Amino acid sequence: MELNSIGLSSEKSEGLSEDLNVLLANFQRYYQNLRGIHWNIKGRLFFDLHVKFEELYNDANTKVDEIAERILTLGGVPLHTFEDYIAKSEIEVGKNITKDKEAIELIVDSIKKLLIIERGILETSDEANDEGTNSMMSDFITEQEKTVWMMKAWLTE
Ligand SMILES: [Fe+2]
Repeated sequence: MELNSIGLSSEKSEGLSEDLNVLLANFQRYYQNLRGIHWNIKGRLFFDLHVKFEELYNDANTKVDEIAERILTLGGVPLHTFEDYIAKSEIEVGKNITKDKEAIELIVDSIKKLLIIERGILETSDEANDEGTNSMMSDFITEQEKTVWMMKAWLTE
């Protein structure tokens, strides 16, 4: 088996890089969704939500960088153009959302898709004995599941 510079199977690392690029593309779409609702949100909860969405997009931005750098560590090349992000992602695009409930629902739906992709990657990275990607996915999953719980609590009347 051919090994790469960090001692993992080159072939499996290549596959993982492709999967991580799909996650990266979807994260960028999620990030833009968050920017959109940060800017366009209206109503009595504006000050709360405007700040909350900023906190979330800053977190997404950090994760985007971590995913891209993991791809590089595995020997791959991270996608960086809008063109590729559009082609590789499937998260719903939230356009001109001004209502709080709709904004929070968009977040829950987006994170659900990210979680499904991350669990898929976790399976592959586990099989490749790639602890670095494993632990990154585990951390993302734990944090995002907690965010979903909080968003669901917010949605409960
Ligand atoms: Fe801002």
